[in-house]
Amino acid sequence: MFINIFFLLVMIAVSVFFGWLTRRSWKATNVFSKWVGSILGGLLSVFVGLVCIAATVGLVKAYSPRTAPVPDLKVAGTPQQIERGKHIADAFCTSCHSANKELPLTGGVDLGKDFPMPLGAFVSSNLTPAGPLKDWSDGEIFRALRNGVDPDGRWLFVMSNFRGRNLSDEDLQALIAYLRSQPAVENETPNPPDQPGLLGLTLLGVGMLPAGQPPITDAIVAPPRGPTAEYGEYILSYQDCRDCHGENLLGGVEGQLAPFGPNLKLVKGWTQEQFISTLRTGVDPFDHKLDPEKMPWKSIGRMDDEELTAMYLYLVDMP
Ligand code: HEC
Ligand code: HEC
Repeated sequence: MFINIFFLLVMIAVSVFFGWLTRRSWKATNVFSKWVGSILGGLLSVFVGLVCIAATVGLVKAYSPRTAPVPDLKVAGTPQQIERGKHIADAFCTSCHSANKELPLTGGVDLGKDFPMPLGAFVSSNLTPAGPLKDWSDGEIFRALRNGVDPDGRWLFVMSNFRGRNLSDEDLQALIAYLRSQPAVENETPNPPDQPGLLGLTLLGVGMLPAGQPPITDAIVAPPRGPTAEYGEYILSYQDCRDCHGENLLGGVEGQLAPFGPNLKLVKGWTQEQFISTLRTGVDPFDHKLDPEKMPWKSIGRMDDEELTAMYLYLVDMP
């Protein structure tokens, strides 16, 4: 943050300097220097000035404390909860919180490197008991997952825009139980995890980057587990397929931050076995190999048959 403020001050100085040059050119006796100097100096001064304003708005958005309710919660940590939490973590959280896409969730992956522009560093945290969560209460972890706010009221940039917030209360509790049960693996990750750069802050300031979703305060209940389109809809509400494949799964939009995913209507032409085998092996029915750096099939393919079938049934029935 301090380095950003430093560069912001430098830019303000540059803008003032151009302003000063404009005034000087305006006083020049030579007609050419007077007009060219003033117009050029004036435009540059205004442009740099506007960027400074946008970056300042972005700084305020990024660092103003945020709030969301902390539920009064003590997760029992039953073997069933740990198993369910492990399963969700394995098929989902590993795609960002593990360098080798395997459990445990040791973090250290910089998502900033995958963005098409240098927006800053956004490094996934070590979620094993050797990382920051050891000092958080269960309620605080719940709040971070549901509403993207950490115990100090800091905004978690990625998690607050993350669809995992739609996981049911029961599934979030299961995840907390699993996170606590992991072996403590030392892996120092940055604190704070988000280090947006000046470009990131400027785009945030003009509203071109998402500033996080409003807090969800109601309880979320999942439909009964099973191979049904209804349960598939629930999985598709918390998995991040839509970030790449588009809000209604009919294909991403060019220029989006996340990798561009194709229209998933194409699954209508596949059998259930072909769909499951594509996500398990990364090879589709036309022998096309899916790029694991863009399409996280390795983690998605760890869903069980019931879950993959549920998603298939939802996708083939999709309006
Ligand atoms: C799209 C990538 C992505 C996915 C998927 C993801 N995370 Fe994160 N997570 C991050 C990043 C990056 C951070 C660092 C803060 C931020 O930008 O939100 C983070 C931060 C966190 C934090 C706060 C830790 C801290 O030090 O402040 C928790 C808790 C967390 N993640 C849990 C999870 C769990 C549990 C899952 C699976 C249900 C998950 N995350 C899935 C990217 C992800
Ligand atoms: C990070 C972005 C991203 C996410 C998240 C993602 N996908 Fe994809 N998906 C892609 C991309 C990119 C491709 C094309 C990959 C290629 O051709 O190498 C793809 C390909 C596919 C294909 C194969 C299409 C074909 O013609 O072979 C299916 C099926 C699919 N995704 C389903 C899903 C489902 C279901 C989810 C969520 C559970 C999901 N994807 C999550 C980016 C993503």
